Amino acid sequence: MSVEAAIVALRNADLIHLPTETVYGLGARADDPAAVVKVFEAKGRPRFNPLIVHVGSVEAAASIGVMDNRAHALAAAFWPGPLTLVVPVRDTSAACDLARAGLDSVALRLPAHPLALQVLRGFGRGVVAPSANRSGRPSPTTQADAFEETGASVAVSLDGGPCPVGVESTVVSLLGEARYLRAGAVTRAQIEAVIGPLAADEAEGHRSPGRLSLHYAPDAPVHINVETPPKGAAYLAFGATDYSGPVIQLSVTRDLAEAAANLFRSLREADRLEPACIAIAPIPEDGIGEAINDRIRRAAGFIG
Ligand code: TXA
Ligand code: MG
Repeated sequence: MSVEAAIVALRNADLIHLPTETVYGLGARADDPAAVVKVFEAKGRPRFNPLIVHVGSVEAAASIGVMDNRAHALAAAFWPGPLTLVVPVRDTSAACDLARAGLDSVALRLPAHPLALQVLRGFGRGVVAPSANRSGRPSPTTQADAFEETGASVAVSLDGGPCPVGVESTVVSLLGEARYLRAGAVTRAQIEAVIGPLAADEAEGHRSPGRLSLHYAPDAPVHINVETPPKGAAYLAFGATDYSGPVIQLSVTRDLAEAAANLFRSLREADRLEPACIAIAPIPEDGIGEAINDRIRRAAGFIG
């Protein structure tokens, strides 16, 4: 299906599958509550969890939210790319109340995927796009996975190939002191190199509204930091292993970017084996490893 068809669907307040560099999004026009409500319904997502508004340019972002010097510096450094900025809302009709879950802030992101950029620039307005999974399930990183999750709800499903990053965007709040709300491919150190020190983490409940519930969970129970998988496990390995059961390699060369790109697809593949459990190897906490560990801790039910 074509970019033009996706733009027509957005205009008609229908849903689309929007491939991005991080994960596949379930897209709808951000200015129409009748469109945005379909996103919450298709995902089974709680209405208190606000959505990210995706835009095709920094100018579009600055018309929807109040971009201060820090926001512009981060945009210059990382946009288009896997970074979402939470800023005060400027235009509450461009990002409707339902999209923001009634907050006076808005999350903005300019994604790097060429198809996403064509859709966003062609449409010319903001597009909400949470990950295209049903709420609580692993995010889709291929069109086939997006289709399995929410295919019945979309008018147009674009195929942008496998997502190169594989975990959702980093979310940074610029409401008052800058805070790192969600780990992603853009690391804390990279953010601090541009705008200086981030505020210390608060308790989990004070962070992004969407960070509370069980997330990314396959059907099988998930165990993390496993060196020696129990019998019956499907093993997500990170480098060489002598486990004799089913092994899915996140990265045989222990490359963290490759492991992130493979993470959600590997969780789905392991789940399809219907194992007694899914065991995941220890993942170093450096760089994008923080985002991987965040997602797998949630999949295992350790957070929230
Ligand atoms: O990589 C991504 O960001 C993907 C792709 C499709 O772009 N999208 C995505 O959207 O992950 P979603 O809705 O699954 O995640 C949005 C996150 C949630 O944790 C939500 O709570 C937070 O951003 N968020 C959105 N608006 C917010 C706001 N005003 N204040 C604080 N957190 C906000
Ligand atoms: Mg999600």
